[in-house]
Amino acid sequence: MAESLTIERTKSPKPKPDFSQLAFGKNFTDHMFVVDYVEGEGWIDPRIVPYQPLTMDPSSLVFHYGQAVFEGMKAYYSGGDIMLFRPEKNFERLNQSNRRMSIPEIDEQLLIDSLKELVSLERDWIPRGEGQSLYIRPFVIATEASLSVKPSSSYKLLIILTPVGSYYGSGGDAMKPVSIYVENEFVRSVRGGVGFTKTAGNYAASLKAQEQAGSAGYDQVLWLDGVEQRYIEEVGSMNIFFKISGKVVTPALNGSILEGITRDSVIELLHYWDIPVEERRIDMEEIRTAYEAGTLEEIFGTGTAAVISPVGKLRWDAQTYKINDEETGPLAKQLYDTITGIQTGDKEDVLHWTRTV
Ligand code: COI
Repeated sequence: MAESLTIERTKSPKPKPDFSQLAFGKNFTDHMFVVDYVEGEGWIDPRIVPYQPLTMDPSSLVFHYGQAVFEGMKAYYSGGDIMLFRPEKNFERLNQSNRRMSIPEIDEQLLIDSLKELVSLERDWIPRGEGQSLYIRPFVIATEASLSVKPSSSYKLLIILTPVGSYYGSGGDAMKPVSIYVENEFVRSVRGGVGFTKTAGNYAASLKAQEQAGSAGYDQVLWLDGVEQRYIEEVGSMNIFFKISGKVVTPALNGSILEGITRDSVIELLHYWDIPVEERRIDMEEIRTAYEAGTLEEIFGTGTAAVISPVGKLRWDAQTYKINDEETGPLAKQLYDTITGIQTGDKEDVLHWTRTV
């Protein structure tokens, strides 16, 4: 247990939702983790308390200038054990986001230890069905009451938990191919900006394009680079991979793309399987050429919430591309089965990714 972590149990546990009908991020468990940052004292008073609303001053900096970061991770049952998937990577990335957003770094081990306590306390909230898990949302907000544009002198870090099924559609089939719309009006991120961080504003800025893609009948937006609007970056809530002539390619990390942990896991698995994979700049024209030559075999997205999500249809420049007859491709299926199999203990954890709670 983390040193000085205190636990206050709820006196009125909530009824559990119907685990066969889970919508993403709608039902929250009985407890949450909180730790405060106070200038001069550091991160203090780590505690698990009943899930409850926050009371904040309306002038709190987070409401005005958006100094906020978050993470996404999952807990699973593996037989009788509860597992986390590469949690140290998420907390490393949280601190990477913190550094860019001028938020003080936090002890990663304190977070791992506290998270294990929290998940263990909420073990009855972890669903066991196919494709289900307990989604974990750590986040940090700036709490100083001030309207000055400056880094806050106080913060709260919270971890909340929600039982989830597939990200796309409640109770949906996780491997049902999604459709994506290549955005060529708005951009998500610019050179030297905050694209590599999980800061709330990146997601707020994506909503307009997401709304327009939705109205055109597409599930997600595919972002292009912010300068030439030509090179592929990432999808709304996922990183993106293409299989062309037997080789897998994904955009290289360039400061404007999120460093996905599922992305990294996929690259490591492909190396392990001796499947060629390249991280590099990908021009949309290359995708068009491969499609026209019949060598574009598969497209899939990767993310904690989305896991591996095949792409069945792509819309770019007034043209619609149907990928693999809008069916799930064999590589996406193999990756999905392997990653979820490792997470739930059905497959050997050859790359040593899981951590027992
Ligand atoms: C995740 O995959 O955990 C994410 O953070 C994506 C999210 C915005 C749903």
